[in-house]
Amino acid sequence: MKILNASGCLDALAAPQVARELDAFVTKTVTPLAREGSAPPRIAETAHGMLNAIGLANPGRERFVAEHLPRLRELGVPLWVSVGGFCAGDYAETCSQLGEIEAIELNLSCPNVDEAADSAAEIVAACRQATELPLYAKLCAAHPDVAEVARAIAAAGADGLSLINTLRAIALDDQLRPALARGSGGLSGPALKPVALHSVSVCFEATGLPIVGMGGIQTGRDALEFAACGARDIALGTVLFADPGAPARVRSELAAACVESGVATPEDARSLAKSPETVRKVPA
Ligand SMILES: Cc1cc2nc3c(=O)[nH]c(=O)nc-3n(C[C@H](O)[C@H](O)[C@H](O)COP(=O)(O)O)c2cc1C
Repeated sequence: MKILNASGCLDALAAPQVARELDAFVTKTVTPLAREGSAPPRIAETAHGMLNAIGLANPGRERFVAEHLPRLRELGVPLWVSVGGFCAGDYAETCSQLGEIEAIELNLSCPNVDEAADSAAEIVAACRQATELPLYAKLCAAHPDVAEVARAIAAAGADGLSLINTLRAIALDDQLRPALARGSGGLSGPALKPVALHSVSVCFEATGLPIVGMGGIQTGRDALEFAACGARDIALGTVLFADPGAPARVRSELAAACVESGVATPEDARSLAKSPETVRKVPA
């Protein structure tokens, strides 16, 4: 099982020592044009997680490829670039400009932009034409049937899935006004874990694609639960803000969690994957 960071949750150039603890570094989502992102405040705490409305702040495709990517390559860590956009052509054009990286993650699910995107499958199909690099499609769990979306994406040529992005949510301040200037934001952290496990489980059953599982992972035991639901790899997001040492810690806890659960490796736990929709017959 590889341990990655979740897109937008680690600045590898500011914290290279943390990035080097990962099996691959995933960039913040890059869009065709530079974006300032949402007005502050853009982050709020909630009882069980964090709300963010960063709004895809990024330097834009041109500057990213010319200035950021060469510096990221110097880290010596395999790179995944997260690609965003507002129509299939946006995504495909960025994909065609990327090379010498391990994979592309297509962010098909940012809750903090208002523009309507083309359908997930249309975007994946356009990107498939534009690159031979492995394509991971990142979804959120807000679809009525996320497994159906995953099936369409697999048919369109995705090599894997990243599950899940944040869920749209609101937090209120003491005066009962939205804590974020944007109003709503994306909920991340522990509250997301059971939702993410469900998405991983049903999408694994639907497609059999390799999955990077994420959403509230804080411990090695959490990581093993994602493996049991069908994730091949996992990504650490919100936990990195509180504990930059999480990659090494989760890796060693994962080994201990395997021993405790009686599986030789996280991959062995995967065979335990069962959809929550599958009723288990427990002997009386
Ligand atoms: C501050 C912040 C910024 C994020 N930026 C992005 C982003 O640019 N692209 C993306 O696909 N996901 C982004 N995410 C979502 C995370 O990659 C991840 O899917 C989500 O936070 C769930 O994982 P977690 O609960 O471990 O944080 C962001 C999350 C946070 C908290």
